[in-house]
Parts: sequence; structure tokens; C-alpha cells
Amino acid sequence: MVERTLVLLKPDTVQRGLAGRVIARLEDRGLKIVGIKMVHMDLALANRLYAEHVNKPFFAGLSEFMMSRPIIAIAVEGKDATALVRATMGATDPQKAAPGTVRGDFGTDIGRNLIHGSDSPEAAQRELGILFGAGETFDYDRESDRWINES
Ligand code: RTP
Ligand code: MG
Repeated sequence: MVERTLVLLKPDTVQRGLAGRVIARLEDRGLKIVGIKMVHMDLALANRLYAEHVNKPFFAGLSEFMMSRPIIAIAVEGKDATALVRATMGATDPQKAAPGTVRGDFGTDIGRNLIHGSDSPEAAQRELGILFGAGETFDYDRESDRWINES
């Protein structure tokens, strides 16, 4: 099913100048950018976005890192976009991520794993609502999308 999902290019991606290469990988897999902006996350945003992790031991480090520098938020659309993004990202721990994935090719540490992707279509809806307001995402057609089977 064609759906939308949230991608965040974490501070390490922006700092290392890898944003373009990571975005290219998403576009190369057919995903369409329907919203994009730079954001400097604050604690309120981190708490909302990572609500499932607030009581975990790694939350302090995770939120501190996510708030340390600007990130790039991207709304992408495509067939089974959430699963496709997750497959493109690779495993959470770059040490375990397969070569050919973003984390497997560029990742250095579980706390510096470059990219966030919503982990289910339901999470995607929630997270897109947190990052993108009315008028910040767009409906448009691309010629290449006529090749995608929407069933
Ligand atoms: P993300 O939410 O960033 O897309 O990553 P994910 O689904 O693959 O991993 P998740 O379990 O949701 O964890 C969120 C982020 O927290 C950091 N983390 N650190 N030190 C640790 O054990 C640990 N576990 C998770 C990672 O940066 C992970 O992306
Ligand atoms: Mg996650």
C-alpha cells in the first residue's frame, strides 16, 4: 500500500556531510520526498518522538545527541514506505547492519547510526504529525511512479 513515513537524518549525518548520499539512497529505491526541513530538536520534541524510549537507559544519551545539532526531517511516500525505509537503514547497531544499508556502510556506533525511520505505519502517522504541520507536506505526481504497482 502506498503510505507515508518519517525519516530523520540525525546530527551525525549532517555533521559528516552525508545528507545528500543518504537521501539519494531513499530516492534510488523509489521513495518520493513529500516534505523536508531542518529542525533543531528540543527536549519536548524528543520526549514526544521517543515516547516509547523515555524510561530506557539509553534515552538520556539519545536525546542529548538528537538535541546537539540540527537534523533533517523528511516525509517520504511510496509503496510500503515504512518497511522500505527500514530495509534501507539496516539494523539499529551499525556493527550488525548489513553492507549495502545506510548504517552498514556509514555507521560507526549504535549511538551514531545516522538515520531514524518510523518502525510501523501507525508510528509513522504519529511521528509525521509531530514533525510536519499543515502545509508542510505536499501531494504531487512523478512520472516514474506510474511504474509502481499500488496494490
Ligand atoms: P530509530 O528509532 O532511531 O529509527 O532506530 P531503531 O528503531 O533502529 O532503534 P530503537 O530501538 O527505536 O532505538 C532508538 C535509537 O536509540 C539508540 N539506541 N541506543 N545503547 C543502546 O543500547 C541503544 N539502543 C538504542 C539508537 O541510536 C537507536 O537508533
Ligand atoms: Mg525506533
